[in-house]
Amino acid sequence: MLGRLNHIAIAVPDLAKAAELYRGTLGANVSDPQKLPEHGVSVVFIELPNTKIELLEPLGEGSPISPFLQRNPDGGMHHVCYEVDDIIDARDKLRKTGARVLGSGEPKVGAHGKPVLFLHPKDFTGTLIELEEV
Ligand code: CO
Repeated sequence: MLGRLNHIAIAVPDLAKAAELYRGTLGANVSDPQKLPEHGVSVVFIELPNTKIELLEPLGEGSPISPFLQRNPDGGMHHVCYEVDDIIDARDKLRKTGARVLGSGEPKVGAHGKPVLFLHPKDFTGTLIELEEV
């Protein structure tokens, strides 16, 4: 079911500061910030030779990453994103195993314009998993 690692996401309290840390101190290629109101986050992507890192900052009231940042005020690893060929097929197979899909279970359009779903961290060794159809 799983394809390539698409990205690792890190939640941060200050996106501009974190972007500058990666750009300046770590010498990485960092995209311009992008607001994703449907997901309650602002993001930048860091392009690495073999994958991407997504930096996430809360956007608006009730951002889904706000509770995480309350527990981890300096920021921290928030989720990993794996690629799948068919997100509906993957969702249905996972549900049959008892795995919980977050939200309505209908894919949303993610930061790359592709359908995404999130899986409950308690079902996957304490790690929030994003699936992205590619
Ligand atoms: Co992501």
